[in-house]
Amino acid sequence: MKIAVIGSGYVGLVAGTCFADSGNHVICVDKDKDKVTLLKQGVPIIYEPGLEDLLKQNIYEKRISFTTDIKQAVEESEVIIIAVGTPQNEDGTADLQYVLAVAQQIGQNINNYKVVVNKSTVPVGTAHKVSNTIKDEINKRKENIDFDVISNPEFLKEGTAIDDFTKPDRIVIGGKSQKAIKIMTKLYAPFLRTDNRIYVMDNKSAEVTKYAANSLLAAKISFMNEIALLCEKVGANIDQVRVGIGSDARIGQKFLFPGIGYGGSCFPKDVKALIQTGNENGLKMGILEAVEEVNDKQKIFLFEKVANYYEGDLSAKTFAVWGLAFKPKTDDMREAPSIVVINALLAAGAKVKAFDPVAMDNAKSIWGNKVQFAKDAYDVLNGADALIIHTEWNEFRTPDFSIVKDKLIEPVIFDGRNLYNLEDMLEIGINYFSVGR
Ligand SMILES: NC(=O)c1ccc[n+]([C@@H]2O[C@H](COP(=O)([O-])OP(=O)(O)OC[C@H]3O[C@@H](n4cnc5c(N)ncnc54)[C@H](O)[C@@H]3O)[C@@H](O)[C@H]2O)c1
Repeated sequence: MKIAVIGSGYVGLVAGTCFADSGNHVICVDKDKDKVTLLKQGVPIIYEPGLEDLLKQNIYEKRISFTTDIKQAVEESEVIIIAVGTPQNEDGTADLQYVLAVAQQIGQNINNYKVVVNKSTVPVGTAHKVSNTIKDEINKRKENIDFDVISNPEFLKEGTAIDDFTKPDRIVIGGKSQKAIKIMTKLYAPFLRTDNRIYVMDNKSAEVTKYAANSLLAAKISFMNEIALLCEKVGANIDQVRVGIGSDARIGQKFLFPGIGYGGSCFPKDVKALIQTGNENGLKMGILEAVEEVNDKQKIFLFEKVANYYEGDLSAKTFAVWGLAFKPKTDDMREAPSIVVINALLAAGAKVKAFDPVAMDNAKSIWGNKVQFAKDAYDVLNGADALIIHTEWNEFRTPDFSIVKDKLIEPVIFDGRNLYNLEDMLEIGINYFSVGR
């Protein structure tokens, strides 16, 4: 099949590469010339495990190409996938300007029947808006060209995106055209060989499914973070509570780890957008408002622990930071909780030195030289008063604690991800603060 993917970011690039790898011919479009130049050379522009090899292989096999020319991509393709960003507006609603700009360009260049796929996360009713935008452009040209709009939200997770895309839990296809649904089913067939995990529904239900999924996951995080805070108050241990509740099959073990709040490019904006969709429809989304409120508090909670320990005076302190990205195995810094903690430390007059295995380039564009970036996890400890952990990268899980103790001025760790055993820390002689224990 010939496919155009418009927007070559985390979602578009992974989707384009995986569709190419399953034998399709894919043209990836991005409006950012620099990205396109790098992508043509096989430089994946984002950190995602396994992506670089797959990308290079498919460029070599001539199944994937990159361009800024949307006209050619639209004309040559049967399926056009929209995968541009939908950031939040100031009022929390989703900003649809990029999606609708692409829809307009599709309408200006469409030359025969196409399936237009909304893969971006978009509020309910967007498929209709995209369809009308394309129709308007076709009408301006006084032409009569058929097309269908399918809502196909993406559920991949950064860090495991290739696996998630090629072995999906489910594929949601929203639309009513049997012709388009058949084409979509064929497109995903290589990834669904063991069983048919395709759920066909109407466009609106597909659009709500994506927001509901992310909001429920965010709710799980906020719930566990709130219970963790309660554990601290009453002297219980969240680790024990977690396994106690997770053993109930109705609850499940996954996504029950407390931490320093959810971040990233999806949960924060998607929870906000769903609250706004509720508002626009006269419905107060009370649970989601609470999810957000708890998350905002949780992001500053680690800083408060640090400030309490030093009795509010951080002005002469230097902190070493392990982990900047919002989660491991990604370089994505969007809405990372580390931003809130580090900004609070800097505002309190502290010095911050940081190390992250892959996110430091993106972090430099946030802090420049306000934060000192180190070459590795031990280098960052030199001359620091204490260590603060934001991201649970594997390499932080079993460090050499004798080196950690040697390098820190005082052996203190503030761990936002509960990486270490409390008894071990006591035995090693580290003053250890974690979440809910
Ligand atoms: N990142 C994730 O983990 C993830 C997961 C599931 C869904 N989503 C959703 O997928 C969508 C894309 O997210 P992302 O993280 O890939 O975004 P991103 O910012 O990484 O990439 C978007 C790309 O679109 C390009 N673009 C914008 N307007 C364009 C235009 N008119 N023509 C061509 N290119 C254009 C940008 O230059 C950018 O490279 C969002 O709606 C997001 O909510 C993201």
